[in-house]
Amino acid sequence: MRKTRSIHLIVAASATMVMAAGMAAIVSTPANAATTLGAAAAESGRYFGAATNSFMLNRQPHATVLNREFNSIVAENEMKWYHTEPNQNQFNFTAGDQLIAHARARGMTVRGHTLVWHAQQPAWAQNLSGTALRNAMINHINRVAGHWRGQIHSWDVVNEAFADGSGGGRRDSNLQRTGNDWIEVAFRTARAADPSAKLCYNDYNTDGVNAKSTGIYNMVRDFKARGVPIDCVGLQSHLGTTLDPTYQQNIQRFADLGVDVQITELDIMQGSNQANMYGQVTRACLAVARCTGITVWGVLDPDSWRTGANPLLFDGNGNKKPAYDAVLNALNAGGNNPPPTTAPPTTGPPPITTPPPSGGGCSASVSLNSWNGGFVATVRVTAGSSAINGWRVRLTVPSGATVTGAWNANRSGNTGAVDFTNVDYNGRVAAGQSTEFGFQATGNGSIPAPSCTAS
Ligand code: XIL
Repeated sequence: MRKTRSIHLIVAASATMVMAAGMAAIVSTPANAATTLGAAAAESGRYFGAATNSFMLNRQPHATVLNREFNSIVAENEMKWYHTEPNQNQFNFTAGDQLIAHARARGMTVRGHTLVWHAQQPAWAQNLSGTALRNAMINHINRVAGHWRGQIHSWDVVNEAFADGSGGGRRDSNLQRTGNDWIEVAFRTARAADPSAKLCYNDYNTDGVNAKSTGIYNMVRDFKARGVPIDCVGLQSHLGTTLDPTYQQNIQRFADLGVDVQITELDIMQGSNQANMYGQVTRACLAVARCTGITVWGVLDPDSWRTGANPLLFDGNGNKKPAYDAVLNALNAGGNNPPPTTAPPTTGPPPITTPPPSGGGCSASVSLNSWNGGFVATVRVTAGSSAINGWRVRLTVPSGATVTGAWNANRSGNTGAVDFTNVDYNGRVAAGQSTEFGFQATGNGSIPAPSCTAS
């Protein structure tokens, strides 16, 4: 007993010393010390975000804390497949739209979570397999990423596709059974659907150098070598009571591949080490220039998905926990390793262009994102010297190719010469301005310059 007590005393004494040191640091730089997580992270060009739900946006004290502390949000559930496409080809964007509006009104960025995942699929997708599932996946990505095009900072394109344990291989799932290339197809499709979003692969139990994170590392290296579009790796970081000593080293090795790293779902089991670990994780991210932001998986402890673990930064009354101070102090102390301003994502081959029309009318150009066995086409329609009120684009798909879906256009036909016409919201194009639509197809080959007729 006495021994235990003296250990506690030593711990308490050293904790006091750490606090004293932390306070001394703050006192010496009072002007620079930001007072919220978002502002402190922003000082080094990073974001600090939280997962939330549309139905919590006005709930107190959640709302006050969310709006005060964070400069990024992510939908805890409401952008998942089961939520956004509850019936096949019937989309529900209401909750996601609310989250985005809330964020935009407050200057917060939005992470997108998640386009494809083996879990939380709608029942109809769980029951699909093979080509039908593959096409449903592509359509889902096109429609969801297309709907929020330009509004999502980073998308978790694929979530949790690797298996736990020593093998470092893929997890079995209905998606995996459509063929090993499903992940790269998902990324290529996402790039075409929202070219400005960073495209991330996201997973858990990857919080150090281990077999699973190495499997993902090898995939990212292969994607970079073959030009498959990937911009970042998300480390979920649902953590227990100790931090893997290779946590920072693991972040660094992904960064060295030329992708950003984001801590995407941070929560840490309550216990004597919680505050310390929150500080360690924050410092590890700040130490790697390409670790661009941290998201905690919830705001108030009682709202956490880890019932009883109290793994977040605020208690149920919205009070800051010691873990909060550890994060804020780390952000304020370590903001001098800013992430690089990254070049815009690679956009693939230049579009095949048709000469601009000399008078009125319109022109169309197409760019392809192809993989073995399929492609996604993005078609740009440009008005000539006068505004147009509607358009029809005719293009010829390669022989053997079949169009399986289109967005932002009506379509007639699916092989040979296929016609696309405007939908009600994109028919009117001002003089010299453009609008875009897209489609996906199975098959391969090139597409000759399309024709465009204005109406
Ligand atoms: C969790 C949510 O927090 C819960 O509300 C839901 O019931 C299940 O999903 N990894 C992920 C997240 O990528 O989407 C999960 O979120 C937690 C684990």
